[in-house]
Amino acid sequence: MRKPVGNSWIVAGVLLALVLGTAQSARGAPPRYTPDWLSLDSRPLPAWFDEAKFGVFVHWGVFSVPAWGSEWFWWHWQGEGQLGYQLFMRDNYPPSFTYGDFGPQFTARFFHPDEWAKLFQAAGAQYVVFTTKHHEGFTNWPSPVSWNWNSKDVGPHRDLVGELGAALRKRNIRYGLYHSLLEWFHPLYLLDKKNGFKTQHFVSTKTMPELYDLVNSYKPDLIWSDGEWECPDTYWNSTHFLAWLYNDSPIKDEVVVNDRWGKNCSCHHGGYYNCQDKFVPESLPNHKWEMCTSLDKWSWGYRRDMKLADVLSESEIIAELVQTVSLGGNYLLNIGPTKDGLIIPIFQERLLAVGKWLQVSGEAIYASKPWRVQLEKNETSVWYTSKDSAVYAIFLQWPEGEVLYLKSPKATSTTRVTMLGLEGDLKWSKDAYEDLRISLPQLPPSALPVEFAWTVKLEGVK
Ligand SMILES: *[C@@H]1O[C@H](CO)[C@@H](O)[C@H](O)[C@H]1NC(C)=O
Ligand SMILES: *[C@@H]1O[C@H](CO)[C@@H](O)[C@H](O)[C@H]1NC(C)=O
Ligand SMILES: *[C@@H]1O[C@H](CO)[C@@H](O)[C@H](O)[C@H]1NC(C)=O
Repeated sequence: MRKPVGNSWIVAGVLLALVLGTAQSARGAPPRYTPDWLSLDSRPLPAWFDEAKFGVFVHWGVFSVPAWGSEWFWWHWQGEGQLGYQLFMRDNYPPSFTYGDFGPQFTARFFHPDEWAKLFQAAGAQYVVFTTKHHEGFTNWPSPVSWNWNSKDVGPHRDLVGELGAALRKRNIRYGLYHSLLEWFHPLYLLDKKNGFKTQHFVSTKTMPELYDLVNSYKPDLIWSDGEWECPDTYWNSTHFLAWLYNDSPIKDEVVVNDRWGKNCSCHHGGYYNCQDKFVPESLPNHKWEMCTSLDKWSWGYRRDMKLADVLSESEIIAELVQTVSLGGNYLLNIGPTKDGLIIPIFQERLLAVGKWLQVSGEAIYASKPWRVQLEKNETSVWYTSKDSAVYAIFLQWPEGEVLYLKSPKATSTTRVTMLGLEGDLKWSKDAYEDLRISLPQLPPSALPVEFAWTVKLEGVK
C-alpha cells in the first residue's frame, strides 16, 4: 500500500510533471508504434544485434527424452502416425505409454547452467537463444498457464529459463528466448483450428499470457518467435504484442525480434529476418538477417541415434559463419543437450573450434560491416568484411604457391597488408591486371594459429 500524501505535494507533483512533460516533448518524445506492420517495421534494430554476429541456439525440452528422430517426435508419432515412430514406441516402451509420460524423465539431473555459459563464452558466442517452449507446449519455466506441463511441476522441478539467464548474464552474454506460438495438441488451439481460426481462445489464455510473462519475468534481449505458420498474424495478435513490446515493455530499448509472427510475415515483417531455417541469401540483402542452423544436420533436439557423419564439420561451420557475416547476417548455431542437461563432447568440440578461430579472426567478424564486394572466387573462395577503413579478406583454402590474388581491393600508396594472428607485414605487389598479389608466409601449417580459414587485413585500399 502507498503512503497517503498531502494536497500541496500533489499540486507540486502535478506541476513538476507538467514541466518535465514539456521538456520531454520539446526534446521530441520517443515515437509510439502503432499495432500495424508499417509502423512496427519502421523501428530501427538495436545496434547490439548486428555487432554480435555469432550466437548459440539451444533446443531442449521433453523431446530430449525419447531423443530419437528429431524434436518433432510427438508430431511424427501421433500427429502423422509415422510407422517408424510407432515401431520405436512399440519396441521400447510399454503399450499404454503416452508422450506425457516422458515428462518426468526430463530430469535435467546434471544441468549446470554455469558450465553451459562458460562453454558458450569460450565458443565466442555473443548471444544465446534458448527454447522456452517448443511446439509440444512444455514450458521450461514455471508458467502459471501451463498446468502440470512445465519444468517446475514436472521433470527438472527447476526454472530452466531463469537459471540459464542468470548464468549467461554473469558473463555478459545476451539472452534470447525462443517461443513457439502454436502447440500441436493444445485443446484450445485445436478448438480455434476447428473454428477456422475465427476464435482466439488459445491466444488469449495461453500464447499471450505466456509471452508477456516471459518478457516481464526474464527481460530477454531477443524474442525468437516460431510456430506461426498455420495462422495469420491477426489470429496471433502479434502486432499488438509487438507494439506493447516496443512502446511500454521493460525491454523496449534493447529488445530484438525475428520475423515469424504469422503466416506470410517471415522474410517480410518484424525485426530481423530468418526467412526459412538454414536460409542463405544469394547476394547482400538490404535487411538484417540471421542464419540459424544446427550442428546435427538432421535435428535441432538431441538424438541418441546421431552419427558422426551427421555432424557439421569444423570447416563447414567456419565457412558458413564467414559467408553469413560477409553477407550481412548473424550466425546462430544450434546444439541439443541431453535430457540430463549434458552437452555431448562432439558438440563441445565443435563450439570450441569456433571459439578458437574467433580468437584469431574475431576482429574481421564482430561488429564488422559488409564490404562493397562480398565474394571473390578464383583458386580459393575469398569472403570480404570491413571495419572502419580496414578491409578483411577471409580465404577458405590455402592457395598453392603461397600467393593470394585479390581482384577487388585497389591498392594505394598507403596500402598495408597483414595476416590476423601473425606478426609483421606481408609482401604484396600489383600484377599486370592491377590485381593484388599477396605473398603468404611460408610456414608449416602447425605454426599457423588457425585452420580452415585465414584472414588478410588490408589497410589503405579502395
Ligand atoms: C489483442 O491485443 C489487444 C491489445 O493489447 C487486446 O485488447 C486484445 O484483447 C488482444 N486479443 C487477444 C485475443 O489476446
Ligand atoms: C501467403 O503465402 C502463401 C504461400 O506461401 C501464398 O500462396 C499467398 O499468396 C500469400 N498471401 C499473401 C497475402 O501474400
Ligand atoms: C587467379 O589466380 C591466378 C593465379 O593462380 C592469377 O594469375 C589470376 O590473376 C587470378 N585471377 C583472378 C581473376 O583473380
